Amino acid sequence: MSGVAYDYMEQYLRELIPSNSGILDDLEKFSIKNRVPIVQKETAKFLELMVKMNKPKKILELGTAIGYSAILMNIASSGLSEITTIERDQRMIEIATANIAKCGLQNKITIIKGDCLELLESLQDEYDMIFMDAGKGHYNHFLPNCLRLLKKDGVLIADNVLFRGMVASKELATHRKITIIKRMKSYLELVSSNDDLITSVIPMGDGISVTVRKNIGSI
Ligand SMILES: C[S@@+](CC[C@H](N)C(=O)[O-])C[C@H]1O[C@@H](n2cnc3c(N)ncnc32)[C@H](O)[C@@H]1O
Repeated sequence: MSGVAYDYMEQYLRELIPSNSGILDDLEKFSIKNRVPIVQKETAKFLELMVKMNKPKKILELGTAIGYSAILMNIASSGLSEITTIERDQRMIEIATANIAKCGLQNKITIIKGDCLELLESLQDEYDMIFMDAGKGHYNHFLPNCLRLLKKDGVLIADNVLFRGMVASKELATHRKITIIKRMKSYLELVSSNDDLITSVIPMGDGISVTVRKNIGSI
């Protein structure tokens, strides 16, 4: 299983979550069949909760893949949120575009093609929520621009921050992933040690971090 939570815990928590129907169920099946990574079941539920609680009008997502999490977040906002999502893989963009059109969400979800490393620099809008789910080896590099783009009272959520447990355990870490692990540790240290930020890391799914600003009034 994930290497983040005990298998028995993960299985139990997953069984508690009701199955989706309609397009989300279709996309979950597609992702399994075609081995396209999308958020894990419990992470999807957590994202849904975050959207319900924070009611973001504008969301920035890094990593569209087939559009699953973008569609899920829009549905969770009862169709109210506008989502900009960045993806560099042309095939993914085509599949996500078709999925978004199937849901009639073309006016709500905009895909920007390109690499987050370059694109983030050029974005100027402000976002109520940012969901980082692309380029695990670059979260530390994405961070300055994400903080620049995040509204004062915005929420920054990052997935895969424990990366199959490898970020927390030398025993689980493989040599091939050493750079990603180092950079992910750097990301977690940056968001945890910054006096202006409050971060909570949740050992669920592949590890999720949630960051907000401490003193919204003084920034
Ligand atoms: C885990 S998948 C995203 C899953 C999606 N958020 C979901 O749950 O439905 C990560 C995606 O990010 C894309 N990606 C990886 N690094 C990227 C980068 N530096 N810039 C843009 N896209 C990137 C990959 O092509 C992949 O489709």
